[in-house]
Amino acid sequence: MNQSLGRAAFGIQTLALLSLLSLPVPGCTQRRQLPPPPTGPWMNASLSPDERADLVLKELTLDEKIALLHGVGMPTDEPVTPENAASNRGVGYDVGVPRLGIPGIDMSDAAYGVRSSGANGRYSTALPANVAAAASWDPDAAFEYGALIGRELRAQGYNMSLGGGVDITREPRNGRTFEYLGEDPVLAGTLVARLIEGTQSEHVIGDIKHYAFNDQESGRTSVNALIGDRAARESDLLAFEIGVEKGHPAAVMCSYNRLNGDFACENQYLLNQVLKKDWNFHGFVVSDWGGTHSTEKASAAGLDNEQPGSVFFGEPYKAAVQAGKISMAELDEHVHRILRSMFAAGVIDHPRQRSVIDPFAGLAVARKIEEESIVLLKNEHAVLPLDPGKIHTIAVIGAHSDVGMISGGGSAQVDPPGGNAISPSGQGATHWQEQVWFPTSPLKAIRARAPRATVTYDPGTDPATAAAAAKNADVAIVFAYQWESEGMDLPSLSLSLRQDELVASVAAANPHTIVVLETGSPVTMPWVAAPAAILEAWYAGSDGANALGNVLFGSVNPSGKLPNTFPRSDADLPHPTIVQPPPGSRHFSGPVSPVERAAGLPPFDRDYNEGVKVGYKWYDAEKKPVLFPFGYGLSYTSYRYSGLSVTPAKTINVTFTVANTGARSGAEIAEVYASLPASAQEPPKRLVGWSKVKIDAGGQQTVTVDIDPKYLSIFDESTQAWKLVPGDYTILVGGSSQDLPLKATVSLK
Ligand code: BGC
Repeated sequence: MNQSLGRAAFGIQTLALLSLLSLPVPGCTQRRQLPPPPTGPWMNASLSPDERADLVLKELTLDEKIALLHGVGMPTDEPVTPENAASNRGVGYDVGVPRLGIPGIDMSDAAYGVRSSGANGRYSTALPANVAAAASWDPDAAFEYGALIGRELRAQGYNMSLGGGVDITREPRNGRTFEYLGEDPVLAGTLVARLIEGTQSEHVIGDIKHYAFNDQESGRTSVNALIGDRAARESDLLAFEIGVEKGHPAAVMCSYNRLNGDFACENQYLLNQVLKKDWNFHGFVVSDWGGTHSTEKASAAGLDNEQPGSVFFGEPYKAAVQAGKISMAELDEHVHRILRSMFAAGVIDHPRQRSVIDPFAGLAVARKIEEESIVLLKNEHAVLPLDPGKIHTIAVIGAHSDVGMISGGGSAQVDPPGGNAISPSGQGATHWQEQVWFPTSPLKAIRARAPRATVTYDPGTDPATAAAAAKNADVAIVFAYQWESEGMDLPSLSLSLRQDELVASVAAANPHTIVVLETGSPVTMPWVAAPAAILEAWYAGSDGANALGNVLFGSVNPSGKLPNTFPRSDADLPHPTIVQPPPGSRHFSGPVSPVERAAGLPPFDRDYNEGVKVGYKWYDAEKKPVLFPFGYGLSYTSYRYSGLSVTPAKTINVTFTVANTGARSGAEIAEVYASLPASAQEPPKRLVGWSKVKIDAGGQQTVTVDIDPKYLSIFDESTQAWKLVPGDYTILVGGSSQDLPLKATVSLK
């Protein structure tokens, strides 16, 4: 949700010093009184979270129960109310049960780092965007990603994270693509599960969102996603299913949009049937901000907690209980889920402890993950890595690469220390829908790695001037970016601001041109044949420039692979244009105002008739050539695959060998796909597993991937269950979805 952030951010040293001296940090409210440590019988840690929740529940009055069902308004709203005065100034606050020492739930957005830190006089690390973490294909990196967020939330006084975006990339122009984990449900679900485990390992409630089909921002509060059961369960919902089953998030956030008629936050099918019953989810469902639309209907459908206020789950809820319209048992079920989640995540046994964030440790994690995430898309004549001994002149061009790197906007926005690198004041706090550039300078990183070279900078605003700057340099490095944010969609996958022309002109002037992309979504590249090398650096986080420098100069061998297909043009997408709300309904995607709610927003349909064919499944099925396929990414070394064997056991074991045939050690993401029997009527193939393996130059490694039978199954609508279709399954193994040299067939009954 939008907040206007009016306070200046502070430098690392200043903050650390103020915190050490225990002085109030300017911009913060005074240190809060935390509730006394809880002491009741529910503090017996040998009892289960469910038993402990029931012991608390028995003690609660009706008002205390209702208070657990909702927030108290945006904690940043002025004037500060007595309820939210006790909050930590995040985006949501439930008051808890102070009488029993049950703490409030302090929620902060935390997609790629803790939000609003600068505005609150605090510091947080910006990790590379979530889509970058997906490009690492590394579950351990995802854990580290989540753990860093959990640590920094806790240190800042929060005990609940609003991160874990896992809507798959059904619409790549969605302005939140950078907040999600790519187009494949198995990849996205596996990574979000590890991310949540990381966050919750720090005793912070983790959340996955936006459940479900929040696949575009245009008209997000009125769009009605239409999709059949089987396609839904095998695509977007599968990512959530894996996230819930493997990551055990304490919370799931329901989304703004409707699905097949009903709003997600009052949708029986999504909440009670699929999430709570079929997936056995024990946590609580929290509404997106302003995404609650009713009291009785939402409660009966399975919504447990309204945010940020109490329009439907405050007084109206109490009245409905008193009038017998909502049973005490239904109310208790919601309260139980909230309390048991607090015990399960450890927020009661391990109360928050404010501490000084270690920014240097954060930078190291952010850099390491970015180094694993950068994708090398093209490298002709091994122009990369650069050898500083042989290069005398480098022309650096475009995208403010002299001072910073772009970040993703909206509620995911992390405040940069010292302020936006390109804002006129240099120290300003971040504002809603403002492009925020982190002060991590590629130009400086390049100069540091080529100290004897002459390194020039051109802003790239005029393609002809940039080409002239590039012409006589040994190497030209041209940066191009595409900013995206919650609250908007990209009009197209083309680079904006004449950047296509810029890249084409520079590449025409210098045969040793390297393009560095800073984007959240795929981009089209009419100039793809021209430059010698292309790197996708995503939104690179707090220490992006050093990670990039290490890849450009070869101290890190790139190993990321695309979590989203890069198509040739918008026309090749399942829907060449984004369906927009009809005239008269709201285009902006903020929460529904009371007036609009009363008037009833006219819904408009978005028919996802491509069904399960999301991303590569679409291009495969439609036989459309792409620019760069899902799972693609080069390295400074090369790999050879051999010796596939497939053993159908309880799970299917796939074993093969990967050899590093080049002169550098590296990490290869070995991908396993399956083609189902024709009678299953599925797209040509689907990802069913992978392994990221480090292999020394000249070495080789035996790789085993266990395939979860669910990933080979179809969702049978008649039984509402996963089912293996008997027949021949082809297992395909290799280094990208379009380079699968190993093949074996296995018959399953
Ligand atoms: C976003 C959520 C976010 C919430 C609170 C909403 O507008 O969709 O992702 O967690 O605001 O800021």
